[in-house]
Amino acid sequence: MTTKEQLNDNIPQHLAIIMDGNGRWAKKKGLFRVAGHESGTKSVREVVEGCAEIGVKYLTLYAFSTENWNRPKLEVQTLMKLLVSSLKKELKTLHENNIKLATIGNIEALPQKAQKELNEVIEKTKDNTHMTLTLALSYGSREELIKTIQNISIKVKNDLLSPHLINEAVINEHLYTKNLPDVDFLIRTSGEERISNFLLWQIAYAELYFTEILWPDFRKSDLFEAILNYQKRERRFGKTSEQLG
Ligand code: IPE
Ligand code: IPE
Ligand code: MG
Repeated sequence: MTTKEQLNDNIPQHLAIIMDGNGRWAKKKGLFRVAGHESGTKSVREVVEGCAEIGVKYLTLYAFSTENWNRPKLEVQTLMKLLVSSLKKELKTLHENNIKLATIGNIEALPQKAQKELNEVIEKTKDNTHMTLTLALSYGSREELIKTIQNISIKVKNDLLSPHLINEAVINEHLYTKNLPDVDFLIRTSGEERISNFLLWQIAYAELYFTEILWPDFRKSDLFEAILNYQKRERRFGKTSEQLG
């Protein structure tokens, strides 16, 4: 069991998590997939709490991808219902812990009820400063990049921007993640070692961590273990080890 006392001050500023394995967790127990999603909400609570305790400033959770719309209708409906009920349940805790809620993704594609609930929580927590919890909902990195290119092109066409002035900062400003720093550490649960269209631009120099643990089994100690692993790494950003001093 890894505890937060084992960690040093080198806490990732921006942690992103691909919460995967709910379906397999349920199947293993002979339950319906949705039971896995329900159970996964407990892991979300643990991870949000754990991150707030150790001083992660930005936590971004991949909750629903653009591709997940292709799942069976009933599963999609249940996920959306679960989103609404979790937001209702967690609003107080988020607010009491000074956590600000944000979203990335094509939020307009979500059911009205989910949008309304999200807006309420975002509005209520907008001045909170301890941590920003961002939910990636109906999020796909390629869609985000397409929108970014479209919006930049419109500015160029209207003479508001000259093509040679397009740089990393300009691109960052047009992404859903414009208010977030680059990802420092990316965790994916369930043993899959892929990115599944998540934050492709933003993870350019992130450290990646894959664990076999299925998301509904992921606990605070697993989070701390992952961060302990992060702390043992040397992030060189293209330089040599000697240059880092
Ligand atoms: C992650 O668990 C939750 C979502 C993608 C919404 P899965 O539902 O993908 O679980 P597995 O991968 O089928 O086990
Ligand atoms: C990625 O998980 C999306 C989320 C965790 C929300 P998936 O289960 O949808 O990814 P693939 O299909 O296995 O790549
Ligand atoms: Mg999956």
